Amino acid sequence: MVGKVSIRKLSGKDEFTRLIDIQRVVWKHPDLDLTPVHQFCISSFMGGLVLGAFVEEELAGFVYSFPAIYKGKFCHHSHLLAVLPQFQGYGLGKKLKWAQRREVLKLGLDLITWTYDPMQSRNANLNFHTLGVICRNYLSDFYGETPQLRLGPGIPTDRLLVEWPIKSARVQRKAEEKEEKSLDLSFLPKALEGYRAEDGSYQPGQPNLKLAAPVFLAETVRDVRALQPTPGIIASWQAALRQVLTHYFNRGYAIVDFIFGEQCYYLLKKMPAGKSS
Ligand SMILES: CC(C)(COP(=O)(O)OP(=O)(O)OC[C@H]1O[C@@H](n2cnc3c(N)ncnc32)[C@H](O)[C@@H]1OP(=O)(O)O)[C@@H](O)C(=O)NCCC(=O)NCCS
Repeated sequence: MVGKVSIRKLSGKDEFTRLIDIQRVVWKHPDLDLTPVHQFCISSFMGGLVLGAFVEEELAGFVYSFPAIYKGKFCHHSHLLAVLPQFQGYGLGKKLKWAQRREVLKLGLDLITWTYDPMQSRNANLNFHTLGVICRNYLSDFYGETPQLRLGPGIPTDRLLVEWPIKSARVQRKAEEKEEKSLDLSFLPKALEGYRAEDGSYQPGQPNLKLAAPVFLAETVRDVRALQPTPGIIASWQAALRQVLTHYFNRGYAIVDFIFGEQCYYLLKKMPAGKSS
């Protein structure tokens, strides 16, 4: 349990300076890769949004977004979400995102986008299952050479661009934490499935790119950081997942949910042409 949590807008260079330390602690990035105070100052002045989560009086996390245009549509792009390690797992991340949604709705917008690493299953669970984003855009090696944004040396900085249709009925149900119909997943086909190799490692199988089912699963790893000591395995899973997701995104599928468990799966669904949620 943590103390009383409140969310409020941050403003001014003194408050923004405190975000530098939070970034250093949460991401351990070198200074060159931190979002600087002047960026928070100007973008919050020009329609951006910086919300802080306070536990009692202590700043425990923040979310930062700025006005953007995605596929010709005005939206907010959320670039940073961070909660200090000692406050993680107590619902602050969720509270920040729901507060961000409320503020962006007030601006008259109905879409928030952001990117994240598809191999980070906790974030996938937050994004798809808890918040209700969808995704149909795979960005290969999007941030290039930045070493701190990679999962390991030489591994491309692949990202998913997710769309959060904040006015949709589904997102509203998520906001109200309404129970959703549970789907029997056991019969669903799998475009990607892991197997236990002879050396004991859990390896990606051969991607199945021939599926035509309206809904299917693609497995991913549960804890990517735990795989870092095993040579090559992160790159193998990333390559397989990239192949599957780019293939099916190009055929009109979108990721609409994430199943977090002993094994983790993206749930892909064929989208009617032009439909966003
Ligand atoms: C991502 C982050 C902001 C989440 O903040 P948090 O306060 O720890 O998260 P919450 O306690 O609000 O949990 C939100 C959701 O995250 C997911 N989640 C959190 N911990 C999880 C865990 N151990 N296993 C699986 N899912 C988990 C769940 O979907 C959870 O929703 P639920 O409680 O309804 O199941 C925080 O972990 C963080 O700062 N991480 C490092 C930086 C980062 O990855 N930023 C986001 C980049 S997209």
